[in-house]
Amino acid sequence: MKKTILITGCSSGFGRATARHFAREGWNVIATMRQPERETELYGFANVFVVRLDVQDRTSVAAAIDAGIARFGRIDALVNNAGFGLFGLFEATPREKVVEQFDVNVFGVMEVTRAILPHFRQNQGGVILNIGSGAGVFALPILSLYCASKFALEGFSEALAYELASQGIVVKMIEPGGVLSTNFGRRSGAEAAQNAALPDYAAFVAQTETVFAGLRAERLATQEDVAKVIYDAATDGTDRLRYVATEDIQPLVKARRETSEDEYIALMRQRFGPPRSSGFAMPAPVAALVAAMNGHEAAAVEACFASDAEVSDEGRTHRGGPAIRAWFEDVSRRYRATLAVTDVVVEGDDAILTGEVSGNFEGSPIELRYRLRVRSDKIAAFSVEP
Ligand SMILES: NC(=O)c1ccc[n+]([C@@H]2O[C@H](COP(=O)([O-])OP(=O)(O)OC[C@H]3O[C@@H](n4cnc5c(N)ncnc54)[C@H](OP(=O)(O)O)[C@@H]3O)[C@@H](O)[C@H]2O)c1
Repeated sequence: MKKTILITGCSSGFGRATARHFAREGWNVIATMRQPERETELYGFANVFVVRLDVQDRTSVAAAIDAGIARFGRIDALVNNAGFGLFGLFEATPREKVVEQFDVNVFGVMEVTRAILPHFRQNQGGVILNIGSGAGVFALPILSLYCASKFALEGFSEALAYELASQGIVVKMIEPGGVLSTNFGRRSGAEAAQNAALPDYAAFVAQTETVFAGLRAERLATQEDVAKVIYDAATDGTDRLRYVATEDIQPLVKARRETSEDEYIALMRQRFGPPRSSGFAMPAPVAALVAAMNGHEAAAVEACFASDAEVSDEGRTHRGGPAIRAWFEDVSRRYRATLAVTDVVVEGDDAILTGEVSGNFEGSPIELRYRLRVRSDKIAAFSVEP
């Protein structure tokens, strides 16, 4: 008999890709979303039943589950995918938004789970797959509320897994890292943009953005990759609890789970702590350069330099915008590395930036120092020292 899965948040991203993947693998899919009237693609699958479910509306949860059972006879698996990222400084975020973040990402998962459990118990089986995040394993600044919601989901899912094992029901956490092809970034950006500006945090936000730009450069996975991990987890027949779904977050997950608390916190403070030189605010062109380099954006790199600027690297000098751009395009073909600011010292007109580079150059680990000279709002010289 064909198996059936119910998925929340199928209007885009992981939810939509997962609905497609299970449908192609021959499952019946109850693809739920807040506005099914807007859906076009999923109605095209004979084995996909599109139905309204808003995780903040309890009546719609019960109605969608009942309609799904009426259509396919039973439900074998549930993917709690609906969610969003409330990004922004905690202090700048209004209470109602905090409540909404938990209402969707945590209480929404609980509502759907509570509603489906009697059916799973009756069937003496079922698989619940909760979509967590790397941000539910390690914590990141400017995402404190999103992290709090996904950490809550981790704790809830782990505890529930023990309870439900007694009923033959399996609970699994899927932990994706950053995937740029979904609507997640757009909504997170829109959420953060609604907050009041707090100028006291400006230097910290700029510095954190440079670290995030580096993390973004590592985001190569697609929503289809995550859908495959969800499918494999649903069908592997094991009671394994956690699945790290994308490569980009493996180093931080490993640091969190396989090193000591002290080592892990030291690593995170190195990235997100205040600059070590006291009283220093990173000059804007330095922040822009780090962000552009980590984002592998050649045009943005070029824009950071003064028109007569010089870059020296491996004994060669590149002078002026177009030459610097060509240098960077060449270098970025061979580098898989991200740059973080670990120390900045001001000496007269010079800002000396020490960059900690994680990654590799043509397969070998690299460690480089950068020396920058900043003149007014542009970088005048940049030299790379091995
Ligand atoms: N993309 C990433 O980098 C990433 C990384 C780690 C984890 N995640 C997690 O993966 C899940 C899916 O995100 P995504 O990247 O696929 O983003 P997405 O494209 O924005 O998809 C989010 C889905 O959740 C739905 N949703 C939001 N509020 C809802 C509500 N109250 N009731 C029902 N559905 C609701 C959205 O529906 P509407 O269209 O109606 O808003 C949309 O279908 C989320 O839990 C997210 O936290 C994403």
